[in-house]
Amino acid sequence: MKKILLLGLLFVILAVKSEVIKVETADLAMVFTVNQEKKVVYQYFGEKQNDYSGFEKRIFPRRPDTRTDFSPELYPAYGHRSYQEPALQATHYDGVLTTQLLYAGHEIRSIDSNTTETVIRLKDAVYPFFVDVVFSAYQKENVISQRTVISHNEQGTVALGIISSAYLPLHNQVYYLTHFHGTWAAEMQLKEEQLQPGIKKIESKKGVRTTQSENPSFLIAFDHPAMEEEGEVYGGSLAWSGNYCLAFELDETGMLNILSGVNPFISTYKLKGNERFETPEMIWTYSRSGKGAVSRNFHDWSRKYALRAGNSLRPIVLNSWEGAYFTFDEKVITGMIDDAAKFGIELFVLDDGWFGNRYPRNNDNAGLGDWQVNIWKLPRGIDYLAFYAHQRGMKFGIWIEPEMVNPESDLARLHPEWIVKSGTREILTLRNQWLLDLTNPVVQDFVYQTFVDVMALSKYIDYIKWDANRHVENVGSDFLSGDCQSHFWIDYTKGLYSVYERVRARFPDVMIQLCSSGGGRLDFGALRYHNEFWASDNTNPYNRVFIQYGTNHFFPAMATGAHVSTSPNHQTGVTSPIKFRFDVAMSGRLGMELQPGDIAGEDRIFARQAVENYKKIRSVVQLGDLYRIHSPYSEEAWATLAYVSKDKKESVLFAYSLKPHERTKYLEIKLKGLDASKKYKLVELNAFNGHSSFDGNENVFTGEFLMKTGIYLNINRQYDSAVIWIKEDEVPVHDSYATERL
Ligand code: DGJ
Repeated sequence: MKKILLLGLLFVILAVKSEVIKVETADLAMVFTVNQEKKVVYQYFGEKQNDYSGFEKRIFPRRPDTRTDFSPELYPAYGHRSYQEPALQATHYDGVLTTQLLYAGHEIRSIDSNTTETVIRLKDAVYPFFVDVVFSAYQKENVISQRTVISHNEQGTVALGIISSAYLPLHNQVYYLTHFHGTWAAEMQLKEEQLQPGIKKIESKKGVRTTQSENPSFLIAFDHPAMEEEGEVYGGSLAWSGNYCLAFELDETGMLNILSGVNPFISTYKLKGNERFETPEMIWTYSRSGKGAVSRNFHDWSRKYALRAGNSLRPIVLNSWEGAYFTFDEKVITGMIDDAAKFGIELFVLDDGWFGNRYPRNNDNAGLGDWQVNIWKLPRGIDYLAFYAHQRGMKFGIWIEPEMVNPESDLARLHPEWIVKSGTREILTLRNQWLLDLTNPVVQDFVYQTFVDVMALSKYIDYIKWDANRHVENVGSDFLSGDCQSHFWIDYTKGLYSVYERVRARFPDVMIQLCSSGGGRLDFGALRYHNEFWASDNTNPYNRVFIQYGTNHFFPAMATGAHVSTSPNHQTGVTSPIKFRFDVAMSGRLGMELQPGDIAGEDRIFARQAVENYKKIRSVVQLGDLYRIHSPYSEEAWATLAYVSKDKKESVLFAYSLKPHERTKYLEIKLKGLDASKKYKLVELNAFNGHSSFDGNENVFTGEFLMKTGIYLNINRQYDSAVIWIKEDEVPVHDSYATERL
């Protein structure tokens, strides 16, 4: 009895004193407190502090018309004195629409030397309805992921209308939102705007290929547009490949309420008593020193936690698509492989068009779903080609699009019940194809088995390009019951992830490219199963400078498939020099996508050398830190960026001229991220036919000089470009050159 009384007393003491819960990385902290009403207050997300006692006594302004204050909740549910967009809306088993979440405990545990997990448990004040908010804090990378787990013991089903992954309240005067808008062949175009009162939403309702027109990643900068090296910037990215919604509500108090998660659009999820609903993860980071640091945090984190084999270098690819499209036979492909070998290519990828017999895949009208080798095109099968590539010192990859089916296929005739459709309505095609219903476990088995069967075509297959070229229209599933059709959007993506899981369990080491008409499925949810992604079907280098600039705000260069294609470019008709094409592709994961035999004369000599040069700088590009120096969106239309190795012994500078500049103008570049005390030798790579863009070639400068004074480059004509390799050197600094010329 005494014990119970003592425990009770202790509880009262704890309840009166606001408890502080911290989620910390090496430099960042999220802070929450539990107030006397057992509400979990979202206090702070920013730089770590030394003393958190202020949060115990922090008093928020009082709301004028209620007895509450303006303190934001950790996870605001609809129904309890909240007028903003809620993180959660649940209709309880008896039809009650509201929820009031109160603190029910929390736990912090260490996952490994770099990761801690914090679970804050919430419970409804009346119903046996539970919400766990789970944070994983990655110390070194300064990244915090957040997700929510929902469960209940109510007497019937609970209908989840809104189920966010995370809520973040920020309080400042002025907020700038950077987001990434686009379309096919123009993905990840950076847009930045000052947020105004009201709600700005970024979302996808496409179900599949959800990042083609907007990416679920954003930046918020305080007071002014986001700068590279200065100012407070928050970065967020939702790890989810299905419909998503990011809402930025600037409310009447000046608070910016950010919600992120699956899109509630016709997605009510009915949760039975024995089920748990786990939201996707929201990935957060923050910096007081600009968006450059935010990007580097995302890159470091994803190389370690959201990318397969994120610490090993990627091979240089020749992909057959733009060089052959559907029109090839064995001779064409072996010819490409022979030529690729001469250029020093390390991986050959056979793209679309290799399968289908009754319905041969000779164009995009037919064959999807029938994953048998086309015997007319490739009579000796894939094994012959894969072995052929291996004999020439190259790895071999092959294209699949296993979630899709053409009406003209054996599969469509055999399994009409596997096709996504709205009851008896006409099934609309997009790129002449239909979508398979991955909510159905049998279809998941088929997609998994397709992967297994394709891998079985040869033991020399090292790489799979997984494509997806349509989105969802006329949604519906023959598998889901009538009252659960709204589960489609979530269950499709969960079905896809379950296939990815099985594929990875069976093939942990095969390289897989995440492709979806280019950057149509670019998110950390899918990326973690893949080694790289195809950033865009647009291979025109001018457009690529913008696409890769946007993409690399979140996703690392090592995973950014960037290919040199022919000129004039197939997507845009634009002509550009081979040097520009290589210089742009070399700032990502270099590849080629053309008929290599068509590269002739001086271009051929250049291309061979450029591939060799990439091998010299690849580790810096792929594993180093990215510093954006000049934005391609600047009026001057010079774009520059550099990678710096972690030990700061090397850096590679890429510079592009995106418009014709006056003859008297010249581009000055102050390098970033170097060690001021080191001496670096600067070597121009990819100088075309001996023409140099850099007058200081082969000279040595201090890091301090390069960062404070900088260098200039002669790249004035449209599509001029330069690649400068900056390497630590013991050679004495060439001071006279520095003072005379710079
Ligand atoms: C779209 C991809 O993005 C292209 O690279 C290519 O694989 C085609 N599909 C093939 O159909």
